[in-house]
Amino acid sequence: MRSTRLCTRINIWPLPLLLPPSSSSHLPFSMAAQEPIPIYTSLDKLYSDLGNAATHAVRWNNLAEAFEKQFGRKPAYIARAPGRVNLIGEHIDYALFGVLPAAIEPDILIACAPQTTAIPSPGHVHAHNLQPQYKARSFAPMRRDSVSEDHVHLKEWDLAINRRELHWESYVKAGYYGVLNRFFPLTEVARSEIAPAPIPVDLLVTGTVPAGSGLSSSAAMVVASTLVFLAVNGKLDGVTKGTLTEMAMENEKRVGVNSGGMDQAASVISTPASALYVSFFPKLSASPIPLPSHAVFILANSLVMSEKAVHARTRYNLRVVETLAGARALAHSLGVHVGPKERVTLREVVGRLGGEPEAGWDESEEGIASLRDALGKALAGAEALKSGRPDEEGLTMDEMVARSGLGAADFHEVYLSWIDVEATYFQLHKRTKHVLSEALRVLDFRAVCQRAAADAAELVHETALKELGALMDASMESCSTLCECSCPELDLLARLAREAGAYGSRVTGAGWGGCTVSLVPEDRVEGFITQLRATYPAYKDIGDEDIKEIVFATKPSSGACVYEFTE
Ligand code: GLA
Repeated sequence: MRSTRLCTRINIWPLPLLLPPSSSSHLPFSMAAQEPIPIYTSLDKLYSDLGNAATHAVRWNNLAEAFEKQFGRKPAYIARAPGRVNLIGEHIDYALFGVLPAAIEPDILIACAPQTTAIPSPGHVHAHNLQPQYKARSFAPMRRDSVSEDHVHLKEWDLAINRRELHWESYVKAGYYGVLNRFFPLTEVARSEIAPAPIPVDLLVTGTVPAGSGLSSSAAMVVASTLVFLAVNGKLDGVTKGTLTEMAMENEKRVGVNSGGMDQAASVISTPASALYVSFFPKLSASPIPLPSHAVFILANSLVMSEKAVHARTRYNLRVVETLAGARALAHSLGVHVGPKERVTLREVVGRLGGEPEAGWDESEEGIASLRDALGKALAGAEALKSGRPDEEGLTMDEMVARSGLGAADFHEVYLSWIDVEATYFQLHKRTKHVLSEALRVLDFRAVCQRAAADAAELVHETALKELGALMDASMESCSTLCECSCPELDLLARLAREAGAYGSRVTGAGWGGCTVSLVPEDRVEGFITQLRATYPAYKDIGDEDIKEIVFATKPSSGACVYEFTE
């Protein structure tokens, strides 16, 4: 392995994170993460770093063998990217507040090798999937030119992702986009014969992160695919975890979701045995947070598909817009200065409200106290965002524009021109209240973990687990009633989990289906699973083997890596 050493706090990049989807500009780095992507050449080392060697060895070997059978030669690389569970901090990363995810063991593996037969188009891809329901696909990047009156401008590579009809390989293409546009830019020079072209690739995908489960199968696919195209094109050297996170975030926008960065950071930067506190302001940074001993987190799939990309315009992307418009309206009502064309986030408004220094409040006790104080003030101010109607049904478009203090044209340009959303009423009060209160809960959760880590006493850990459970329950309530990203099945599953003995239980990830995460006493795990199986209606007919992939304990896993075959 070339390198895996981790420092405790990793600064990655400064703002802004929320770029319009069309933007291909690269985010500037300041104190870029210096950690390289781990590249292994010894399987023993790889398995021991991943933990649970036996399980990994079987899957990695099977994949390599299947690749050889399919393509007639050994793979050159296998890339791994894990899914993630978010312990707390839902729908606040795109408002630039800190979140607490952890990578999980389920992951996406992609084996790849350069194609051996001569194919005329550069960068051609044969993409196969070990799961038979995902049909093999072939595609090649096209050069998409834009034509103006007297010129043909070379714009960028095009891989024809249809956002309205996404297939499994759309996520492979999304990862490929970033590699093509960053490393094979279509300038006039690069167009010439001598410019290196992307290498044609055969690849084979397998995965244990269930799609639509809220465990970030999409981010894991995009991270793993970005890695294989980097590897096969010899572009891994010098790519840091920060760069990979940044690329994966940009790449995922290709499938139409303006996600906040939590999933990609967790999939790339996580370390085994701890959660990851990821904060996004004034620059993205990540630090491991130890979890109290005896903390067991159990994932339970509601079996309702959480199709983030499919419903983006009425769900996820709408939350992004409501939260941003809420920030603008809050600033307007509190007299906080915001530039007319600025797409200010709630985190920035809170900072301005509390007189945050330009470098940001640090993570010292004082810094956190200032952030909490400003969050409290903002939360009180958010009451002014109520619509004033007895049923609080939210604001019409015209009312929302009026609350922003901007003219209709400016509002449209700043908040709507770059994202596809649809709503009759916009819920600025509820969303703002959710974000601010959830941001406080993340700080509380982190503080409880840190306190427990500093004290080995059993009682402290037991108390900590109860406190964490209560925070998770409060988060669930807020997700359900204010963010409205739950669904009846998730509400039920979380309630049943509490009845089965969980300290706390909540939706994890984008919501509207997918999984709950429950904090369960170590000695209650089996009884908990048995009771959930008996009480959640959709589990009744599921057999003993299948249930293991639907309800299971998870422990924090390590982030993305690459194995390089050397013989
Ligand atoms: C999805 C997004 C994340 C985050 C969560 C909700 O997983 O990809 O960036 O916004 O939803 O917390």
